[in-house]
Amino acid sequence: MDILDQYKEVRTYTEQICKPLQTEDYVVQVAEFASPAKWQLAHSSWFFETFVLLPHLPNYKLFNKDFPFLFNSYYNNAGDRVLRAKRGNLTRPTIDEVYAYRQYVDTAMWQLLHQKLDADMVQLVTLGLHHEQQHQELLLSDIKYMFGQNPLFPAYDSDTSLLGQERNIETGIVKIPEGVYTIGYQGEGFCFDNELGVHKVFLHDFEIQKGLVTNGEYLEFIEAGGYTDFNLWLDEGWTWLKQNQVSMPLYWHEVDGQWMHYTLKGFQKINENDILKHVSFYEAMAFAEWKGMRLPTEFEWEIASGQLNWGQRWEWTNSAYLPYPGFKKADGAIGEYNGKFMINQMVLRGASMATSPKHSRPTYRNFFHPSAQWQYTGIRLAK
Ligand SMILES: [Fe+2]
Repeated sequence: MDILDQYKEVRTYTEQICKPLQTEDYVVQVAEFASPAKWQLAHSSWFFETFVLLPHLPNYKLFNKDFPFLFNSYYNNAGDRVLRAKRGNLTRPTIDEVYAYRQYVDTAMWQLLHQKLDADMVQLVTLGLHHEQQHQELLLSDIKYMFGQNPLFPAYDSDTSLLGQERNIETGIVKIPEGVYTIGYQGEGFCFDNELGVHKVFLHDFEIQKGLVTNGEYLEFIEAGGYTDFNLWLDEGWTWLKQNQVSMPLYWHEVDGQWMHYTLKGFQKINENDILKHVSFYEAMAFAEWKGMRLPTEFEWEIASGQLNWGQRWEWTNSAYLPYPGFKKADGAIGEYNGKFMINQMVLRGASMATSPKHSRPTYRNFFHPSAQWQYTGIRLAK
């Protein structure tokens, strides 16, 4: 598929995700980390306008001179911006204006993509598409978070197929022998800069489970007092649990002795055979401790990944998000994409049922703060 068709496919899918939303749903920001859908629709267009069109399409004019201030996310090289926590204050521009902005950017991008592009330009546009795909997953998780805070627990879409694979395809263990292994992306196609710096690691023998932890297994942990035994928790995790009064995964509710949870299809009974989701790194670590096991490192995960059916949950690893040896940042704003976040976050591997098609690789390094629960996170145990 050429770059123009890829562009059309990705941009169309973003708008498809927003189809079930009503106007009010586009605006609200219920937490600093969860951006409104309207902001994300505009921000993903701003990315192409700022990094592709302005520098590379002759005579391109900004759609609106205020939009760079409104829709820059975190790029200091691209100027001032609305504070992250204030994105929900933007009742204007309207959603119609934001869709018109998307159309305006698309028309200019089509003009650019009809020209013969050099490899660097293809790489830059591809980065914009992968950025937009990351926002597609964020749209789903942020919309879920918004509806999950609404006392009516509205269904995002009762017919959604996004809740596809909820069961483990297989169980058992994979054994990996000790040895020196190569880590990092070695292919020809696209990867993020944080996957580069191919290098060798030594791994001891280890075992990793083929199945992810299920709701039923996690219920046993809750019922055994997992959330009340400080011996199971990292100190920071115990503080987080106490300060936020956490006693179950995000979206879980105990109603008249029945375990329920909010899903994109609405409020439903928890199925014990389904794979657990929406736990923090702290919860994953406490559960592993209770089981007498541990989380894999990101290196163990990558080496075992060829023998695992992964892709249902983002899997917390016990690896801090750090640069690989030889990691290089691009010059300017694009260099702010990943590198500056390599502090106080943990790596997650795999992909989830909310991850966009064609947006996963065994070397992909996702990263979040250990307290994050609102992504489609899960637990795979190792020892
Ligand atoms: Fe972004």
